[in-house]
Amino acid sequence: MKKIGILTGGADCPGLNSVIRAVVRKAMLEGYVVTGIKNGWNGLIENDMRILDLRLTSGILDRGGTILGTSRIIPPLDKDKEKAISENFERSGIDALIAVGGEDTLKIALSLHNNYGLPVVGVPKSIDNALSGTDYAFGFDTAVNIATECIDRLHTTAESHHRIIVIEVMGRYTGWIALQAGIAGGADIILVPEYKVNIENVCDFLRSHHSRGRSFSIIVVSEGVTVDGYNEAQKEGSTYKHRIGNAGELIATLIEEKTGYETRVSVLGHIQRGGTPTAHDRIIGTRFGVKAVDLVKENKFGKMVSLHDGKIRYVDIKEAVSKHKAIDEDLYKMAQTFSS
Ligand code: F6P
Repeated sequence: MKKIGILTGGADCPGLNSVIRAVVRKAMLEGYVVTGIKNGWNGLIENDMRILDLRLTSGILDRGGTILGTSRIIPPLDKDKEKAISENFERSGIDALIAVGGEDTLKIALSLHNNYGLPVVGVPKSIDNALSGTDYAFGFDTAVNIATECIDRLHTTAESHHRIIVIEVMGRYTGWIALQAGIAGGADIILVPEYKVNIENVCDFLRSHHSRGRSFSIIVVSEGVTVDGYNEAQKEGSTYKHRIGNAGELIATLIEEKTGYETRVSVLGHIQRGGTPTAHDRIIGTRFGVKAVDLVKENKFGKMVSLHDGKIRYVDIKEAVSKHKAIDEDLYKMAQTFSS
């Protein structure tokens, strides 16, 4: 009987368990055994894995996080570790691997595929929705919904106190969460990494906004924004790229200094990655999981399942990790209607 291995790597997010459940169901129907690899690539380095079955994967569809655990490994993986993975993979008797993760996990998958011929299929996960080659990565919808609810809550307190509230959401390289949650939450200003922030323009807008009788404003900012003349050096010098950090705090401080308006900052952080996945993320995760097993069956390795115009398809992993998927410019322009 053939064996499929599955691992979840990098940042956790709601919807990972939907993929695991779908892979196990579909694989068992197709006559495969499924091995769950613990804690991402670390499980293959340390030989930490266990057989998954219907019992272990039932009742997990609505659970956030990942029952397999995860770990952050920033590529490139050193050569010794790549070798250890390939040797342990060989020894485990696994015939094909499904790697569920974002940019880092998939870059490692691609390198193992290219250097050691690892038969791997990728499944795209990114709350930032930053992966190319797919219209959508699961986890993003849940993050947008959580952020929108937080913006709604912060609206009422901003209004009562006549304050500006800067809400920092996740999004290191792309502003998808800020853009969509900002639109849904009625933000006055949306700041994204794709466009450098001109703080004078932001302050001018706030002054004019307030001169027209509004006594509060909501600004949604991606964690990865660059403020022209301020945090560029900090971003370039960042050694741990997963925490570029403090963009919200910086913007709030500058606004208060320059305008005199009382300003607060709220960093939503990991709350955006926690808890129950939305129905949308459960459905996409399930469809991705089933398709990943189809690709294994068809020996389509080095590929990643993807979503295009509502249909599940696949692309080369290489394409998915080649560049970040920037926000939709038309949507961004449309959102400007509410910042004038
Ligand atoms: O890549 C997903 C993500 O949530 C980013 O939005 C965020 O910058 C980063 O992970 C946080 O990483 P960690 O959980 O390692 O602090």
